[in-house]
Amino acid sequence: MSVGGARKPEVVRVALGERSYDVLIGPGLLGGAADLIGARLGSARCAIVTDDNVAARHLGVLEAGLKATQRHLGTQTLAPGEATKSFAVLADLCERLLQMGLERGDLVVALGGGVIGDLAGFAASVVRRGVRFVQMPTTLLAQVDSSVGGKTGINTAQGKNLVGTFHQPSLVLADTETLATLPPREFRAGYVEAAKFGLIADAAFFSWLERNWSALSAQDSSALSHALATSVRGKADVVARDETETGDRMLLNLGHTFGHALEAWAGYSDRLLHGEAVAIGICLAFRLSRELGLIAGDDVARVEAHFAGVGLPTRIADIPGGGQPKAAELVKIVGQDKKVRDGSPTLILVRGIGKAFITREVALAAITDFLSRQIEGGA
Ligand SMILES: NC(=O)c1ccc[n+]([C@@H]2O[C@H](COP(=O)([O-])OP(=O)(O)OC[C@H]3O[C@@H](n4cnc5c(N)ncnc54)[C@H](O)[C@@H]3O)[C@@H](O)[C@H]2O)c1
Repeated sequence: MSVGGARKPEVVRVALGERSYDVLIGPGLLGGAADLIGARLGSARCAIVTDDNVAARHLGVLEAGLKATQRHLGTQTLAPGEATKSFAVLADLCERLLQMGLERGDLVVALGGGVIGDLAGFAASVVRRGVRFVQMPTTLLAQVDSSVGGKTGINTAQGKNLVGTFHQPSLVLADTETLATLPPREFRAGYVEAAKFGLIADAAFFSWLERNWSALSAQDSSALSHALATSVRGKADVVARDETETGDRMLLNLGHTFGHALEAWAGYSDRLLHGEAVAIGICLAFRLSRELGLIAGDDVARVEAHFAGVGLPTRIADIPGGGQPKAAELVKIVGQDKKVRDGSPTLILVRGIGKAFITREVALAAITDFLSRQIEGGA
């Protein structure tokens, strides 16, 4: 579908001075990508980075547009999955980009989910001491969240995303039609990051999501564009205020400290997707907030009910595959999280839906105690 069709994309500006960029959201952007990139970033050549699943469904149309304008430098197709965010794959990718003949003025185009976006963005930030890159997110998670804000990175044995850079994309093209081929489980997992924006600071958006989940899950185009644009606007505001996460940007980690620990425990596997881990992490953050007397039970129940209705896990016991983590194991991983300063973890807690805040007041021992009771109680 051409971008020149009836429907204009939503445009959200990420305001970062000279490094400001637009996020375009709507159907049919992939087919018009070569023109959109050309109009905004000039006639640079493009090296596409993608994964097998996305390549099989969406690469052809992007490559065709770039080839037609002699701007296709090459394509590197990687194995899908979180394990791809590794030093070994990063090294291969950098070599491959150089073999393609990537020069300083060229572009890396990340076509895929958050894994491809994080890895390709990292490679773009270091290859030839940094080249520009374009995010073309194809999962809901990447469209609502990870493609915007410039965080890149890989995982190590010590935990997720512990090695990486801040490197802003020059353009983000979020084609909502690519979501049609996304497995429903991935769609639900990505939805958590959209709901997160409501839970952090926009109670009205969370209510809208509660009312419109059915339309979203049926991939109603205008509902999707609205949810995406609202989430991206929320993220763009935070990133403009605090690009390198020394303050407010930490709020976006609601549910992530516990979520990352659960993901590490589950071995970054299909057993627990990132968004699913964050769903459980958000519910834990709400329950811990209730225990600390910060929030009434109603809001906790409301969040749990909405996530359960969507088909998401809300409890550690919901993780399939048997076996339960030990609280101490999880807290050890929390202790290694890069959000820990001077040994005290930075937690995002809530005073209600839309009222998240940052705290360093909860000791690791209290967290261990809370998690032990959650695990013993089957929560
Ligand atoms: N940089 C950030 O700010 C940020 C924020 C949140 C999450 N993340 C990272 O994002 C990653 C998770 O991203 P994700 O959930 O997009 O996972 P993903 O990239 O692994 O994609 C999920 C699966 O969907 C497949 N897929 C992607 N698009 C598809 C499509 N349109 N049709 C069919 N299949 C498709 C992929 O091949 C993969 O198997 C994690 O590594 C997380 O750390 C980064």
